[in-house]
Amino acid sequence: MTKKLFVKTYGCQMNVYDSARMADVLAPLGYAPTDGPEQADMVILNTCHIREKASEKVFSELGRLRLLRAERGQPMIIAVAGCVAQAEGEEILRRAPFVDIVLGPQTYHRLPEMVAQAARAGGAVLDTEFPPEPKFDFLPAPQADGAAAFLSVQEGCDKFCTFCVVPYTRGGEYSRPASAILDEARELARQGVVELTLLGQNVNAWTSDGWGLGRLIREVAAIDGISRLRYTTSHPRDMDDDLILAHAEVDALMPFLHLPLQSGSNRILEAMNRRHDRDTYLRLAERLKIARPDLALASDFIVGFPGETDADFADTLDIVRRIGFVQTYSFKYSARPGTPAANLPNQVPEPVKEERLAELQALLLEQTKAFNQACVGKRMSVLLDRPGRRPGQLVGRSPYMQPVHVDDVGDRRGQVVEVEIAEVHPNSLKAVAIAAERKRA
Ligand code: SAH
Ligand code: SF4
Ligand code: F3S
Repeated sequence: MTKKLFVKTYGCQMNVYDSARMADVLAPLGYAPTDGPEQADMVILNTCHIREKASEKVFSELGRLRLLRAERGQPMIIAVAGCVAQAEGEEILRRAPFVDIVLGPQTYHRLPEMVAQAARAGGAVLDTEFPPEPKFDFLPAPQADGAAAFLSVQEGCDKFCTFCVVPYTRGGEYSRPASAILDEARELARQGVVELTLLGQNVNAWTSDGWGLGRLIREVAAIDGISRLRYTTSHPRDMDDDLILAHAEVDALMPFLHLPLQSGSNRILEAMNRRHDRDTYLRLAERLKIARPDLALASDFIVGFPGETDADFADTLDIVRRIGFVQTYSFKYSARPGTPAANLPNQVPEPVKEERLAELQALLLEQTKAFNQACVGKRMSVLLDRPGRRPGQLVGRSPYMQPVHVDDVGDRRGQVVEVEIAEVHPNSLKAVAIAAERKRA
């Protein structure tokens, strides 16, 4: 009998990948995905611990699920997975004792056992171990969901930036062997995937058998059917020469790189333990653009890190102006329990953080808008992977991750199509398909 599984995902792309893999693991038990908790036999909240707000959402969601289950009067397994589960497993069981399963990001290959145990025990099952066996060795083949897919190649972090919980919630750096990654990539290509995003908390720290990420990218790009490649998220410290060269040499590698900078102030970068300074980043940006002149950069920023002065913040605005980012995520610093920065003196008052965030976001938005505007009249390739709001319309992503919609493009879902950008809309670009014979080489 089929049972319905609803997985709600918070946080980063790694969690999106993990959610899909949890569904793969549960499929042999008869669980098929459903899009809401109402009818679900099992609900998994795949959680994120990165900022306080993200974490707290979990408890309100759990409250709603408890009510729903009681009103329905029909059993529902409630599981909490991901980084909040890892960091606060015991706390979850204390604050929400009605939860059936709590599991960390490294144990979800054991989900079938946990489900069986939860059914038997009547009590909660908690598994937040960092097991010696890598979960990847126990996962079934992935089921592609469309023409674009994530492929996790690296996990965990040894960098210990002083603001960040990831090294604690995900554990140390682990690289999957190249052969396992290539097998998974070939399987996804066989299922019709044309665009792959290689994932890792520090994806460019990936290494296996003397290969670095640049070599892996070349090998994946050589797989039949894979025509677009991306990787995320990178650390500036791990951009080696070969990886930069791959941007010049591998056509399939999209000219877009998410390379978080966090701050433009040397003092703050040092206090964050980012282990590079602003000049190193500026040089890196320059070398990448020499390698691939159409490359655009995206970044993350934190404002209001403890001790950040007006002058430090001005350095951030200055480097943003110098580099120009096309897409950015910026956040107010959130003190996370157990991280070194949470105990630093000189925490920045909330209103100051808010003011700085607003100023930075206004500048970043201006840059994104200018970039979008400059795309008008340009030709680019778009992977049209989903239907749009209007009949006959398809939507996809440009090389720069901009959502692009194309009208009356026929049945070309799942294909990479050459388009010319026609208009900028508030949340997307409108484009027209270019006839095949006029296509650029
Ligand atoms: N590995 C990536 C980032 C992963 S976390 C890197 O090294 O850049 C994603 C983003 O969340 C970070 O880039 C950072 O901007 C933000 N972030 C992490 N911890 C935070 C905190 N305590 N407060 C505010 N933002 C935070
Ligand atoms: Fe967090 Fe820093 Fe590791 Fe990125 S590199 S995951 S910000 S500790
Ligand atoms: Fe959040 Fe964990 Fe990702 S804390 S950002 S889900 S690694």
